[in-house]
Amino acid sequence: MDSMKINKILAAVLLAGVVAMTTGFVTRLIHPASGGGHHGADHGPVDPLYASYIKDDHGADHGAKEPAGPEPIVGMLASADLEAGKKIFKKCTSCHTADKGAPNKVGPALFGIVGNDIASVGSFSYSSPMADLSGNWSYADLNQFLYKPKAYVKGTKMAFPGLKRAKDRAAVIAYLRAQDDTPEALPAGQ
Ligand code: HEC
Repeated sequence: MDSMKINKILAAVLLAGVVAMTTGFVTRLIHPASGGGHHGADHGPVDPLYASYIKDDHGADHGAKEPAGPEPIVGMLASADLEAGKKIFKKCTSCHTADKGAPNKVGPALFGIVGNDIASVGSFSYSSPMADLSGNWSYADLNQFLYKPKAYVKGTKMAFPGLKRAKDRAAVIAYLRAQDDTPEALPAGQ
């Protein structure tokens, strides 16, 4: 094998690695719990580029093997148990309040948080990764964040491991939604 050929192969392998890493990163952004994609070792030196795109972007090959991020909770909100949500919120009360007019603690006051702008409690000093987020707390965002806060907002100062059970997240989000003068509308189709 001449050295040009070897160089070409090396370049292809390196490029494939970079693309694999990038698509893995993007996949993790979209599906935080999926842990990146699968990059099969059984491809030739050229088509892994293409193959990893297809697999990682469309998840066609994962589905059955591992869940892509937290289980959605939108379908569970209408029937969520508010009393159960209040109990789960006890895990949060060392750092948060949810009642109207209640103060910040270690974390910002959460009254009216569902649907509200992210990091918008003026009297609270947010970490910069959280302060830099734009948009508002949709049900889907809260579901992702509460599943694994540190994965959803890298560098957040919310020292809480997360709620792994979809039922718990749905209950606490429904409870927080109810603590509001004008609760956010439930997602369509409820
Ligand atoms: C150990 C303390 C702690 C616990 C426990 C905790 N949080 Fe937090 N939380 C924080 C801190 C601190 C922040 C601000 C994070 C930042 O600035 O990075 C925060 C931020 C938040 C935000 C974003 C608020 C905003 O104004 O945008 C939400 C929503 C939230 N927490 C919900 C919860 C819920 C629900 C629970 C319980 C299931 C919980 N947290 C448990 C400390 C905590």
